[in-house]
Amino acid sequence: MSILTTATRMWLTRSLNPFVFKNEYDNILPYTDAERLGLYIHIPFCESLCPFCPYCKEKFEKERCEEYIDHLISEIHLVGNQNDGKKVASSLYFGGGTPALAIDRIQDIVEALNEHFVITEGIGLELHPDNVTPENLAKLKKAGVTKISIGIQSFQAGLLKTLGRGETDFERVFKVLREVEFETVSMDFIFALPGQTFEDLKSDIETAFSNGANHVAIYPFIDFTFTESEIAPMGKREKRKLLDQITMHCENKGFIRDSIWTFSKNPYAGYSSMTRDNFLGFGCSATSLLRGQFKINTFSVDEYSKRIGGGLMPTSLTIRFSKRQRMIYYLFWTAYSMKIDSAEFQSFFGEKLKSKYGLELWLAKKLGFVTEEKGTFQMTMKGAFYYHYYENYYTLSYIDKMWGIMRREAFPDRISL
Ligand SMILES: C[S@@+](CC[C@H](N)C(=O)[O-])C[C@H]1O[C@@H](n2cnc3c(N)ncnc32)[C@H](O)[C@@H]1O
Ligand code: SF4
Repeated sequence: MSILTTATRMWLTRSLNPFVFKNEYDNILPYTDAERLGLYIHIPFCESLCPFCPYCKEKFEKERCEEYIDHLISEIHLVGNQNDGKKVASSLYFGGGTPALAIDRIQDIVEALNEHFVITEGIGLELHPDNVTPENLAKLKKAGVTKISIGIQSFQAGLLKTLGRGETDFERVFKVLREVEFETVSMDFIFALPGQTFEDLKSDIETAFSNGANHVAIYPFIDFTFTESEIAPMGKREKRKLLDQITMHCENKGFIRDSIWTFSKNPYAGYSSMTRDNFLGFGCSATSLLRGQFKINTFSVDEYSKRIGGGLMPTSLTIRFSKRQRMIYYLFWTAYSMKIDSAEFQSFFGEKLKSKYGLELWLAKKLGFVTEEKGTFQMTMKGAFYYHYYENYYTLSYIDKMWGIMRREAFPDRISL
């Protein structure tokens, strides 16, 4: 565990106590009163497994995927039946893995959710470029999907090779995108790969925006310890220069930075399952965040099915937050959207942001990480770089450790971070 993340955690939570995740769970989830509730569905199957990818997934087998979807629908009813009537949910996102491998079941899943939830801001789904076919997109539209996100990673053949991704006929993808319209067409890229230049990224972003995308996500490459990737991460100085160059380029072009890693071409395009005050996750490895707790489902497809078959929640670990821990969790993910609103913090916690974190906010302003206007703290370019930098530590200290364990053990006894 890095000293930096431990010291920051102690300082911000005002406590020596670590974040403790235990092998326990509530079979009833208290989401009835949760506002701004997001929904997430995880489909853990891929045609081929990319060596750099940390997500919970396994090689696709049709029958196994079909059985998994049946269990997923049971989990939706297990949770949905806990609430009388229909609960408003602002968004629904499908991620993976490769959700389109279950293309003929997406509508079934949406219908199951519609029995318990009213989804108000559309449905998003991640696609591998190979999934972008007229048939698939027509099926997604019919199921109510309004936003798609395509995992391009890079348009540069050399960098795709570095990543260990097969070749893709991008002209074919662009042609399909010209034929079917979605409210958001986002494209994912990875930056800070060895040898990657600003020119590479600039050309990737331009190619995306002139070929059907109205939103791009530019993720920093993270070298997870448990993946098979042998890619050497870029040095801090080079990475910062590259990040600043891309940010300046996108801002000069008038693109809207709607989160730390994303830019959109117009205000209506957005794709983010992350910045929700509360969310319910269904499927293997999916997480749920509520006022007082955060829970993670088992990463094992077999154990997931066994739990659901027995009418039980597939939760592997639960953390019950102290108030300060919850505040830090809230601030960390809200900052991802580049701004923190004091009034929203107060409405969520019933306490003033400045009375809890006045010193930190003052320091953040002094250091040039944020600016303040009428109680809203807006992250600056410098602040965004340091968030990126800290996020890398956080991911390697917390997520890497947790996912590393959860990939090996379906129900670890306890994880302390
Ligand atoms: C679940 S995948 C997207 C959908 C689809 N499976 C695909 O690969 O095209 C989510 C995204 O996470 C990003 N990602 C995966 N591994 C990463 C890593 N090690 N570092 C940074 N970003 C990563 C990629 O940009 C990827 O598109
Ligand atoms: S990057 Fe996408 S296709 Fe590759 S293994 Fe990860 S989820 Fe599967």
